[in-house]
Amino acid sequence: MKNRYIETLATLKKEGNYRSLPANSDQLLDICSNDYLSLNKDIHLYNDFLEDVSRRKYKMSASSSRLLSGNSSDHSTLEHLVASSYQAEACLLFNSGYHANIGILPAIAGKNDLIIADKFVHASIIDGIQLSAATVKRYKHLDYTHLENILKKYRDNFEQVFIVSESIFSMDGDLVDLHQLVALKKKYKCFLYIDEAHAVGVRGKNGLGLVEEAHVTKEVDFIVGTFGKALASVGAYVVCSEVYKQYLVNYSRSLIFTTALPPINLAWTAYLFKLLPDFHYRREKLSALSKEFATLIGVKSESHIIPFIIGENKDAIAASQLLEVNGYNVLPIRYPTVPQGTARLRFSLNTDMKMEDLLPIKEILK
Ligand SMILES: Cc1ncc(COP(=O)(O)O)c(C=O)c1O
Repeated sequence: MKNRYIETLATLKKEGNYRSLPANSDQLLDICSNDYLSLNKDIHLYNDFLEDVSRRKYKMSASSSRLLSGNSSDHSTLEHLVASSYQAEACLLFNSGYHANIGILPAIAGKNDLIIADKFVHASIIDGIQLSAATVKRYKHLDYTHLENILKKYRDNFEQVFIVSESIFSMDGDLVDLHQLVALKKKYKCFLYIDEAHAVGVRGKNGLGLVEEAHVTKEVDFIVGTFGKALASVGAYVVCSEVYKQYLVNYSRSLIFTTALPPINLAWTAYLFKLLPDFHYRREKLSALSKEFATLIGVKSESHIIPFIIGENKDAIAASQLLEVNGYNVLPIRYPTVPQGTARLRFSLNTDMKMEDLLPIKEILK
């Protein structure tokens, strides 16, 4: 009997699309991690936190959902900290950015609603949209004229409309124009939902992302941030009004039907989140390094995520292997993570990298 799974895996291999779990090598310079501020490697922070841990007894597991007995003062402490940093009414934690996007979108957007999302939004947003009963339209990446045309045509047919975008796009490193989205949101009376996974920690005076940098925190109805990237932890949050928070507590399935984040982890996240404003020197260093590296390899980038587009899967794999032989860990990004024919190397820089260690990459890429 034919085995469909074996055959499909063989096809993936033939197309250069086969995924396997990469071996982790400490020998290589890791240029694909999201530890943008290098907090995960900072032994001083780690030791300082451990001193606090030895004074207090944090639980290692929440042991149930927050709606059962898993809720703790550590959850509400972190939520208050995040909400007050944004000067917002409320914050609600999720177990990851993936949980946040697949939990919030289906809860807030129902069958009489329309979600309009940028063509390049992350898989977790796409999955969240697919789980919702709302109608969906996609606008061309960063094309606000296209977005407005969709709004003109369809706004009046729906009860509520949600404009959904990332702020720094995860695979392209380019930036949304938040002022344009806020203007359209106001003109067409929509909700604005912004995923700041790659901007939190890295952008804004206090590290609160592009919404802070663009001074639009109050205009965005749902700000999603994650703790697993620049914040060297795990989990995610949404900053929103108290009413939306309570609505999500009642309707967000990825919050209700899962074991809550462990208190020990929440304490580590809170420890780092409190320090976010102090990391401005790291943000400045990352920004300068990113500009220099992007120029070196001839790529235009507005952020610390620098995509080197190659095209064919096999060529991206070969380039990644060549970099590995030369001491660099940069994995190829292929379809369906990025559109067909745009396979790439996604360089994501961290603050503890030195330009002199990156210089050889230019010759290798040639
Ligand atoms: C834009 C965006 N949103 C959400 C996520 C998911 O976040 P997490 O890794 O916390 O699940 C990612 C992960 O890469 C992402 O790039």
